Amino acid sequence: MIHARDLRKSFGSFEAVRGIDLDVRPGEVFGFLGPNGAGKSSTMRMIASVSPVTSGELRILGMDPAVDGPAIRGRIGVCPQEDNLDNEINVADNLYVYGRYFGIPKSVVRERVGELLEFAKLTDKAGAQVEELSGGMKRRLTIARSLINKPDLLLLDEPTTGLDPQARHLLWGQLYQLKQAGVTLVLTSHYMDEVEQLADRLVIMDKGVIVAEGSPQDLIRAHSTREVAELRFGVGEHPALEGQIADLGERVEVLPDRLLVYATDGEEVVTQVHARGLTPLATLVRRSTLEDVFLRLTGRTLIE
Ligand SMILES: Nc1ncnc2c1ncn2[C@@H]1O[C@H](COP(=O)(O)OP(=O)(O)OP(=O)(O)O)[C@@H](O)[C@H]1O
Ligand SMILES: [Mg+2]
Repeated sequence: MIHARDLRKSFGSFEAVRGIDLDVRPGEVFGFLGPNGAGKSSTMRMIASVSPVTSGELRILGMDPAVDGPAIRGRIGVCPQEDNLDNEINVADNLYVYGRYFGIPKSVVRERVGELLEFAKLTDKAGAQVEELSGGMKRRLTIARSLINKPDLLLLDEPTTGLDPQARHLLWGQLYQLKQAGVTLVLTSHYMDEVEQLADRLVIMDKGVIVAEGSPQDLIRAHSTREVAELRFGVGEHPALEGQIADLGERVEVLPDRLLVYATDGEEVVTQVHARGLTPLATLVRRSTLEDVFLRLTGRTLIE
């Protein structure tokens, strides 16, 4: 579905995407995880064939965006990071006009508009102006709009930004349905739980490069321990305490508000910490996540 080699994007002298390789297979959910400015949207826009490739090779559905942009755009769905709905027309017409733009016959578009309004839970807002919608409703409308041409490949840039937890879970369910229907999904996020739940495979991007690639489980296995003990002491005490507990795990991360001890058995770490006469204000034992992988690979947290 997507094939990229040494793909690059520059804005003037600044290189936002610095030579990435990608292969996305039919039917998979592929994630881009990375902090602000990593180059996720720049990459997505090149894949969406709306932003020219600076250098390297890129094929979408076997086609070259530089030559076959219109043909590619006709077969993919795009939900950009910033909603770009038409404020001049109502909710239903936003879907209708977009469908007509793809040359889909009027009667077919009308039917799809009804289905997609249902899908987006916006049926009762069909006649409303876009400005009247909440942020989450606009997001749902943008996602519905991206499905009007029944795409084989759906690109979603931060699909859940601005959604409340309930709407987020609803959307995850809907994306799962699309996957079951055979749609290939590519999504970006800086929420590691989202990517962990949805993606079959992902790349972690940082500063324009891919720092790791694999399934969520593989990445966690390769770059972190089974469990993490989080220890919260008083403000400013964490750096000084690192040395006293460093041997309790494979690795310790010092964050401003807590110490993270990476170990197979987190409860055992907590027991040992207390046995050494240390009394954290709070402790938490949890499984490793992609956030830990990112921290390990870059020395930074995903959301700063
Ligand atoms: N049109 C542009 N002109 C100049 N610089 C740009 C442009 N678009 C993006 N950049 C820069 O490229 C870098 C990558 O931006 P990009 O939007 O791809 O990041 P991102 O991973 O999507 O981040 P976020 O999580 O904040 O959406 C940033 O440093 C950004 O300032
Ligand atoms: Mg972005």
